[in-house]
Amino acid sequence: MKHLLSTADLDAATATEILDIATEMASVSGREIKKLPTLRGRTVVNLFYEDSTRTRISFEAAAKRLSADVINFSAKGSSVEKGESLKDTAWTLQAMGADAVVIRHPASGAPHRLADWVTGSVLNAGDGTHEHPTQALLDAYTIRSRMGRIDGLHVVIVGDVLHSRVARSNVLLLNTLGAKVTLVGPPTLVPTDLNASVQVAYDLDAVLPQADVVMMLRVQKERMTDSYFPSAREYSRRYGLDGARLRRMPAHAIVMHPGPMNRGMEITPEVADSPRSTIVEQVTNGVSVRMACLYLLLGGAR
Ligand code: NCD
Repeated sequence: MKHLLSTADLDAATATEILDIATEMASVSGREIKKLPTLRGRTVVNLFYEDSTRTRISFEAAAKRLSADVINFSAKGSSVEKGESLKDTAWTLQAMGADAVVIRHPASGAPHRLADWVTGSVLNAGDGTHEHPTQALLDAYTIRSRMGRIDGLHVVIVGDVLHSRVARSNVLLLNTLGAKVTLVGPPTLVPTDLNASVQVAYDLDAVLPQADVVMMLRVQKERMTDSYFPSAREYSRRYGLDGARLRRMPAHAIVMHPGPMNRGMEITPEVADSPRSTIVEQVTNGVSVRMACLYLLLGGAR
């Protein structure tokens, strides 16, 4: 495997291998000295053209725990603001000897273009509304560690699916790993042609009793060019996860959210902070999963 651009490129064996390596990486993160020498002398560049908190620091922590040299490049304050093209930036990275480039970009497909221009590995950290493969992998890891398996589970993804690269990557990966996926949200925010294997529903209360995993998505106001629902209050009333809805879920079912959350809109604090929520674990697991991805792409194996 050279690049990680889309979860569509992962077959079940490769995805499972990443999750298994991540389990081993998690034991390193639990040690007092959280470092492995695996990527000593290798250079990882974090190229972020869009805001990020979790993904960016998670990739940075992952690369550092594997002893790589890390260069953080943010579009703000760089020559990108002077109009430098992605291609010219790619050549600069190439000249610096980047072994891996982690890229987040507002344009869908930007990481794929970059992969044509650099000799190192490219990891997609979110491209527009397209994909976010490491988020899907960390979600799969979290589901597997909480539920003991992924195969045969019913995962319900709720909210602004239309703008969600997290949902797109999750649908592909969860399918590959044998889960059944239902998308729920207002008709304006749930594409019906996303994937033939998913079900679409509009009544959250009807679906919740059959869920093993409920994944809430952020309402992505910054990507909305239209008014997709009457008001925030109306959205929460129909699609927000609150305590009453949590109690409609089976006792074993978990609640996930990739962050950042609009607390009070798609999820209430009561639910976000409940023991049924895996939101903090998802962030912790993100580091191990990204260590596994960097290890697989740069460290050898396969
Ligand atoms: C997501 C993203 O940026 O795509 N966040 C993340 O990476 N944890 C989801 C979002 O922005 O809502």
